[in-house]
Amino acid sequence: MNPNVIIEFTLDGKKARFETSPEKRLLDVLREDAGIKGVKEGCGEGECGACSVLRNGRLVNSCSIPVIAVHGDDILTIEGFSRTESYRIISDSYAEAGAVQCGFCTPGFIMATAALLNENPTPDEGEIRKALSGNLCRCTGYTMIIEAVKSAAARMAGSE
Ligand code: FES
Ligand code: FES
Repeated sequence: MNPNVIIEFTLDGKKARFETSPEKRLLDVLREDAGIKGVKEGCGEGECGACSVLRNGRLVNSCSIPVIAVHGDDILTIEGFSRTESYRIISDSYAEAGAVQCGFCTPGFIMATAALLNENPTPDEGEIRKALSGNLCRCTGYTMIIEAVKSAAARMAGSE
């Protein structure tokens, strides 16, 4: 590992500063150094989406990014997002659609849903499936999750 460096970025709306190995995964800095346990580690290999965060508004897998790459960026995790009205709408939609069982995958799906609806407030089913294709759920089957996203989109548009 290289010697520690200072990395600064905006984390959930606040300036954050870490002295850390530049190679440390963003996921580990979030969980270990920032104490944000809502960001989950599933596969650790960029395949499951459990570690999803928004980087400058775009969905990324935090297990696949060395922390040095996000110096100066804007990182939003499920914990920061959970303080927003959009989170309330999306999480209520997931709960009501039965799209949460063990809940392990849910933070990642919610971040993927947020990224989708930011970019495309009226996605069709194919667009929803594509947007969530990097996220795995072992419990629910995807039908209820798709319904939850449709419901969240409708609520955000004020039509439900
Ligand atoms: S833990 Fe990052 S994609 Fe699975
Ligand atoms: S609710 Fe258990 S993995 Fe998705």
